[in-house]
Amino acid sequence: MKNSLLKKTIPLALAGLLMACQESDNNKAEDVVVTPVTEAIEVVEEVVAPEPEDLSYLLDEHSYANKDEVVLTHLDLDLDVLFDKKQLKGYVDLSFNRLQPDATELVLDTRDLTIDKVNSIDEDGNESATEFVLAEKDSVLGSKLTIQLKDGEEKVRVYYNSNPEASGLQWLTPEQTAGKKEPFMFSQAQAIHARSFIPVQDSPDVRVTYKANIRTPKQLLAVMSAFNEPDTYLDGDYQFDMPQAIPPYLIAIGVGDLRFRAMGKRTGVYAETAYLQDAVKEFEDTEQMIDITEKMYGPYLWGRYDLLILPPSFPFGGMENPRLSFITPTVIAGDKSLINLIAHELAHSWSGNLVTNATWRDLWLNEGFTSYVENRIMEELFDEKRANMENALSVQSLREQVKTLPEGDTILHITLDGRDPDDAFSGVPYTKGQMFLVFLEQRFGREVFDKFLNQYFGDHSFKSLTTPEFEKYLDKHLISKYPGKVTQAELDEWLHAPMLPEFMPNPQSDAFTNIDADTKSWFAGATELADLPTDKWSIHEWLHFLNNLPQDISLEKMVELDKAFELTASTNNEVAHAWLKLAINRNYDVVNERLEDYLISIGRRKLIVPLYRDLMKSDNGAEFAKRVYAIARPGYHPLAQGTIDAIVNSAEASQN
Ligand code: BES
Ligand code: ZN
Repeated sequence: MKNSLLKKTIPLALAGLLMACQESDNNKAEDVVVTPVTEAIEVVEEVVAPEPEDLSYLLDEHSYANKDEVVLTHLDLDLDVLFDKKQLKGYVDLSFNRLQPDATELVLDTRDLTIDKVNSIDEDGNESATEFVLAEKDSVLGSKLTIQLKDGEEKVRVYYNSNPEASGLQWLTPEQTAGKKEPFMFSQAQAIHARSFIPVQDSPDVRVTYKANIRTPKQLLAVMSAFNEPDTYLDGDYQFDMPQAIPPYLIAIGVGDLRFRAMGKRTGVYAETAYLQDAVKEFEDTEQMIDITEKMYGPYLWGRYDLLILPPSFPFGGMENPRLSFITPTVIAGDKSLINLIAHELAHSWSGNLVTNATWRDLWLNEGFTSYVENRIMEELFDEKRANMENALSVQSLREQVKTLPEGDTILHITLDGRDPDDAFSGVPYTKGQMFLVFLEQRFGREVFDKFLNQYFGDHSFKSLTTPEFEKYLDKHLISKYPGKVTQAELDEWLHAPMLPEFMPNPQSDAFTNIDADTKSWFAGATELADLPTDKWSIHEWLHFLNNLPQDISLEKMVELDKAFELTASTNNEVAHAWLKLAINRNYDVVNERLEDYLISIGRRKLIVPLYRDLMKSDNGAEFAKRVYAIARPGYHPLAQGTIDAIVNSAEASQN
């Protein structure tokens, strides 16, 4: 895979244009690519430095697409959802722009797709066969699909189907759903899985509008990351339109026994009946969250904002699919304690969906900004106390995580070297990225920083950018404007150095300081458990308490805690996670039945992966993990299966 990348050369014209781009600030290659090739070459001669700059960061190493020659602009999907075969089957019309007029090929990404035929479509809509080559599969990138283009034509139709092993789709049997009567199917395209259900230029630097005709069994409802008609009646034939250009990783579909309930004038919930009412209550503040964010960062530009509640096997907490965030049911806690997840996915409507990371090396531009905005929303909706607690918990977990990560993976502008972005996933782009922005906020003051962010979102709307492009923009619009506040060395340390800067903000929570003192005195025998003011604790305080208990806490104390607070039976999935993790490490096997049930009923990676990891550290634990995983695995999403297969198998290998 690395070889194929090295062989990829930057076309001369592009190189020239890129040099030109580097001279200006907030732009992307595509903004200026209209320049004819010859002129572009002239630019090269004028601008080229004696030591040519390394422009490799501008290439997306995770896509085969020839997006600098021919770039997709619009998709028309026409697909049948075939539950019996676990396939999406039909065709996609791909409209494109020729950036290089003499380009003869369109290069797409695919993974595990069956391509039946490819037709060229002329202006009158007539189809005629055209040649294509589907290359052998690369384990990270999938199979490159090269389509021969005919002179003058700007659309091709690819007849294809996805296959049951599609990494971006999960097909659930009726038994795996809440209602038990109907099957369910959903997609998860980020980072590089759109290609497993659509042949597409699967790079976050490409933006397409799309329309779709989706046919399903009559009794099911299909929803997409597009305009969804809340009053649609069930007939198995659904039309979608996404008129705003989005990167392919934001194309999403869900099909199931779904119903809709409105929350506010532009917000609502799609869910199986079993979740609908609880979800509407839990997430009723969504409309207010939009109002809050609009006040801070400008208008919400996407029309409606609905939530789709997925089955518990959804491998993430949430996914910011535009107009329709996908949400795990594991955050419906009954007390709104985990709704920062909604603030997070909503925040992506500005950072991520409007302003997008150009490559997966720049993920922190999506997730760091979003975590920052998420916390600002929580501060407004609740108060500083809650926002501080959430930040303190995130930073604590970041500090733990960086101890275990390969050093290179603690750098914000990470080097992926051809690795699957999923394999480098961690809290670093989220919380280190967020703390970088908190740092800037503290240095420049909230008022100035908010103004900067507002302008940043405005200037880059519907565009993608890389970290170096961000650095230029930051310098021009903030750092140089207010000299003497932040040094270049500090910026470099944030963005390009491993581990966490010593000057990283360290969010403090008075509530947590009190808990630390109370815990200490309980351990010293100075107070009884009953003296702890636990009846006033929020979920965040509980999490802080559990996460900070001494690693060598005695079994007696575990029993005492469990008896007093029924932690093994906790219905808050985050609290249960923290308690089960502690129990695994202390061999407190009273939890085993609950742990088994937890691992079988939840597929959210963040909640189960750490538990499998810790179980694999002991012989007993490993035996337990393998037995339970054998039962749980068929219900997990392909992405979770991949992650946990590696944990269970690598431990096996190291033990043998
Ligand atoms: N976009 C992410 C999920 C994601 C990231 C999928 C990278 C694939 C690759 C989503 O917005 C997210 O961050 N979800 C978090 C939410 C949490 C930080 C509140 C999650 O799922 O836990
Ligand atoms: Zn996110």
